[in-house]
Amino acid sequence: MRRWLITGAGSGIGRAVAELAGEVGDAVAIVGRRELAATARAVEEAGGTAVPIQADLAAADGPDAVASAAAEGLGGVDVLVNSAALHVGGRLASLSDDDYRAVLEIGLVSPFRLIRAVAAGMEAGGAVVNIGAVVGLRGFPGDSPYGSAKGGLAGLTKVLGVELAPQGITVNLIVPGFTDTEMTEGVDDVAKERIVHSIPLRRTAAAVEIARVVHWVAQTPYMTGAVIPVDGGLMAGFGTH
Ligand SMILES: NC(=O)c1ccc[n+]([C@@H]2O[C@H](COP(=O)([O-])OP(=O)(O)OC[C@H]3O[C@@H](n4cnc5c(N)ncnc54)[C@H](OP(=O)(O)O)[C@@H]3O)[C@@H](O)[C@H]2O)c1
Repeated sequence: MRRWLITGAGSGIGRAVAELAGEVGDAVAIVGRRELAATARAVEEAGGTAVPIQADLAAADGPDAVASAAAEGLGGVDVLVNSAALHVGGRLASLSDDDYRAVLEIGLVSPFRLIRAVAAGMEAGGAVVNIGAVVGLRGFPGDSPYGSAKGGLAGLTKVLGVELAPQGITVNLIVPGFTDTEMTEGVDDVAKERIVHSIPLRRTAAAVEIARVVHWVAQTPYMTGAVIPVDGGLMAGFGTH
């Protein structure tokens, strides 16, 4: 039985990771600002144990308080999944300092703080799985805050993959392509069709397809500092096929 701490677990990819952990009887601390009863129920119905932690990761003590609550509720953390993210789009001139800082706070600073807090008590064999994005590794106009956060997360993953290796802790980055979740539900049909056309596999992903790779990476001890695309071939191509 492994003990998971999953941010963004109230929806989308984070929730799918939590449900899969439930299916193998694992214990999961699920984190989000929203009411988490539905995710907790899904994890427990699947066969696992859920510890809901309703918290805002942007709060001054957010990540540290979440890490303490998870360690206390689970008796320790074996796998940390940083899935929470904030997306604020817009061209450079339209973005405020606050927009930029808010996206970095959730997408980059909070993972850094959570890894620091969790790694301090993690045993050898522990795993950190960060969730990146294609726009962190490829330029996409109108995405400078989100692209910066995700690009930074790739750097953080590589540094800590090396730095935490002597402790036996792996740190990897999954890079999803376009995935059907709350984050993408506002994309209109025309834009979505254009996006699907640019994906070699010609479809978007279901959250569970990304979650399965998160699980696989979290139990792969000889992989660390790696950047793993799960993107239907998006990054392998040139965007026109
Ligand atoms: N969907 C895609 O196409 C796609 C593509 C590439 C990468 N990703 C990445 O995949 C990860 C999961 O996203 P998703 O697609 O599953 O979208 P999602 O359903 O919108 O999940 C994002 C989660 O972040 C949490 N969150 C945001 N601000 C927070 C805060 N201040 N404190 C605590 N939690 C906060 C939200 O929970 P609350 O609202 O409950 O706080 C939400 O559950 C993200 O890192 C995203 O960047 C997604």
